[in-house]
Amino acid sequence: MKILVTGGCGYIGSHTILRLLEGGHDATVVDNLSNSQYESLLRVQKIAGRELVFLEADITDPVALDRVFEHNPVDAVIHFAGLKAVGESVQEPLRYYRNNVTGTLNLLESMDAHDVRTLVFSSSATVYGNNPQMPLKEGYARGATNPYGRTKQQIEEILIDLQASDPRWRMALLRYFNPVGAHPSGLIGEDPLGPPNNLFPFVSQVAVGRRDTVNVFGSDYPTPDGTGVRDYIHVMDLAAGHSAALDYLSDHQGVHTWNLGSGQGHSVLEIIRSFEKAAGRSIPYNLADRRPGDAPVSLADPSSAFRDLGWKAAETLESMCADSWRWQENNPNGYRTEAVPAVP
Ligand code: UD1
Repeated sequence: MKILVTGGCGYIGSHTILRLLEGGHDATVVDNLSNSQYESLLRVQKIAGRELVFLEADITDPVALDRVFEHNPVDAVIHFAGLKAVGESVQEPLRYYRNNVTGTLNLLESMDAHDVRTLVFSSSATVYGNNPQMPLKEGYARGATNPYGRTKQQIEEILIDLQASDPRWRMALLRYFNPVGAHPSGLIGEDPLGPPNNLFPFVSQVAVGRRDTVNVFGSDYPTPDGTGVRDYIHVMDLAAGHSAALDYLSDHQGVHTWNLGSGQGHSVLEIIRSFEKAAGRSIPYNLADRRPGDAPVSLADPSSAFRDLGWKAAETLESMCADSWRWQENNPNGYRTEAVPAVP
């Protein structure tokens, strides 16, 4: 199939495109490079030994999007493009709604106008908000607690309404838990611009010496060691989940929602210890206050994805840490070649 991938230069997009190319699909990538580097796609092509088409365009520009569909054959779309920092979304809600919600509306209108009605959407476990029922199942109540999460929830609702109005649409809503790790080659991985908000990139930047110490946000949670527990999912497993969802849509109409998680929980301290083993060095940390808005535990029930797609997470905490470390060690400055000054 010919797959249009929005936001394909980013972390999850680049790993998924590699999987698509290796599976014999063709990829056209649209990205505005606002939070990613084109270098990621050069490396994807190098690993795959195949070429893709890259178009620098912004999904908030409907004219540019229409041009993409006019000039490139597309059978299905995987939609990753979006802003994703919770704190920033609280400061700049309009930018988040414009990029994520308006951008998606533009994409859906262009798809409809060009008779493309198969879509895999990057949703997030964040739509469950602070729902305490663990593990989380797809049918549980949603209640995102910040503008970023609400953009994901609103887009899910828009997709459901659209499919109800026209049964020709085929949609997969993939709710990611905590994506980590990197391709085992160490050539592609996560490359956040500025200080990382998420645990794994922060820990790996401390391990490589770009930052001094990890702040552990909260050590008095009702969890075995008092630190937050999350369901970490290797990005290679996540990439396989997208490809399985796409296959499923080739013979199923409707809207289908799947959690993509491992179903296993790990605490912040477990992550630090496991990363220390992978990197062979100690990682200084400091017990700090809770981060506002954080839940004590977040865990997926991934059984629907296994039932419908035959997909389940195959990687381990060891491989998540080893692959993250290989990427970080080989690319201390991410995709940039010039050194990024160490920031405490
Ligand atoms: C966060 C977002 C979530 C988003 C997801 C993926 C919040 C409240 N949630 O999830 O909406 O979908 O990222 O982008 O921001 N931690 C530390 N020190 C750090 C960073 C994190 O102790 O420097 C802890 C957190 O308190 C948490 C765990 O590590 O217990 C994982 O944090 P993180 O990687 O930011 O993911 P989430 O908070 O689960």
